[in-house]
Amino acid sequence: MTPQLTEFFDFLRFPSVSTKSEHKADVRACANFLVTKFTRMGLKPELHETPGHPVVIARSEAKPDRPTVLIYGHYDVQPVDPVAEWDTPPFEPTLIGDKIFCRGATDNKGQHFSHILGVEETLAAHGDLPVNVIFLIEGEEEIGSPNLAPFLEKHRDSLACDICAVSDTGMIAPGIPTMTYGLRGIACLDFKIHGPSLDLHSGVYGGAVPNPAQIVADLVSTLHDENLKVSIPGFYDSVVPLEKWEREMWASLPDGDAATIAETGVAGLMGETGYTALEQRWGRPTAEVNGIGGGYQGEGSKTVIPREAMAKLSFRLVPDQAPETILEIAAAHLKKHCPDSCRIEVELGHHGPAYVMDPHSSYGKAAQRALQVAFSDEPRLIREGGSIPIIQSIKDILGVDTLLLGLALPDCQIHAPNESFTVSNFEAGIRLNRALLEELGS
Ligand code: BES
Ligand code: MN
Repeated sequence: MTPQLTEFFDFLRFPSVSTKSEHKADVRACANFLVTKFTRMGLKPELHETPGHPVVIARSEAKPDRPTVLIYGHYDVQPVDPVAEWDTPPFEPTLIGDKIFCRGATDNKGQHFSHILGVEETLAAHGDLPVNVIFLIEGEEEIGSPNLAPFLEKHRDSLACDICAVSDTGMIAPGIPTMTYGLRGIACLDFKIHGPSLDLHSGVYGGAVPNPAQIVADLVSTLHDENLKVSIPGFYDSVVPLEKWEREMWASLPDGDAATIAETGVAGLMGETGYTALEQRWGRPTAEVNGIGGGYQGEGSKTVIPREAMAKLSFRLVPDQAPETILEIAAAHLKKHCPDSCRIEVELGHHGPAYVMDPHSSYGKAAQRALQVAFSDEPRLIREGGSIPIIQSIKDILGVDTLLLGLALPDCQIHAPNESFTVSNFEAGIRLNRALLEELGS
């Protein structure tokens, strides 16, 4: 184990699960680990309180006449459930071959820690950096960054920069440098159907009273038509169609339909008519059921009409869909289709818009040169289906674009059991950071 890997493993051991209150102290301890790391490597760290988890900032010495690069990452991680499906302890980093298994290994600790180490190496070698660097590492990305946009507003002046760089997206295959020029947005909502005032005997009352579990299923089935287009009126009104050049470019990548089947283990694909799997995943909006429940889930059978049932939905959005509008029309659609015999309760959740930038801008080209240096191959240009809502806020509030230079591999299992990051990509990330700051500074 190299000292760099040992340090990375120490960082991974913090169970910094932002969504669970039982991990509040672990999240803070993880932030403090970063503060210590930044101090030791010669940057000036700041730990900022928010109404939620702390934000960590670290600055290099700011010199005039050179660009300032903001490097964003998140030290919070997703929950580990279902924990029984992990082959190794979720918060004990385990090296098997080239893979480091741990929650947060790829998303996002490994990716931003390699940038931190890149800066540390450059400082150790030259005593200076080719650009001014500000690290912004937050602890609430996995819960929708509720406090980060206000934080950016408040610290707009001290966070002034020329460009932002983030490694929190994917690579199309191992060793293939990948620049992401667009992300989907997201809008979440939960709904609950309330029926009878108590759980009922399904023989005594069945047939005469509404069954909330059935109503939830009915409502979910109103979300799509037979071509798997979202059937909420107005859903596609502001969708910007995919451009010819990007459809052609994605079609030239290795077969995305086959890769999607191989990565997910599904028996076959099922998506919006008229689009390839990559187009559906990167450039088309969706409605998804993330959770559905109600009624008896235990062993054997229980003849019951549950008094309530629920579902959790999220919509992935593309330019120029407005998340607030989507939540509004989705809630109205659900309410309209809920029968009068039941009561529906809709709770709107977190949301953020899609993002696109011009990969051929001068910063975009510099990023592609850095990718070429780090991976010794021609970078591919893609959009991604996942969301990092703060990226558009960085554009709106700080006025800068973000270079999305991801290091997540297709089989890294982020958000799932057995998440991993490869040592190769950890090292590539360090090289990438060094090359990127060099390119951005010249
Ligand atoms: N790093 C991911 C987003 C991502 C993953 C982008 C893969 C591109 C490829 C990020 O940490 C994430 O999971 N974001 C959440 C955002 C949500 C909770 C607001 C997502 O996309 O579900
Ligand atoms: Mn994530």
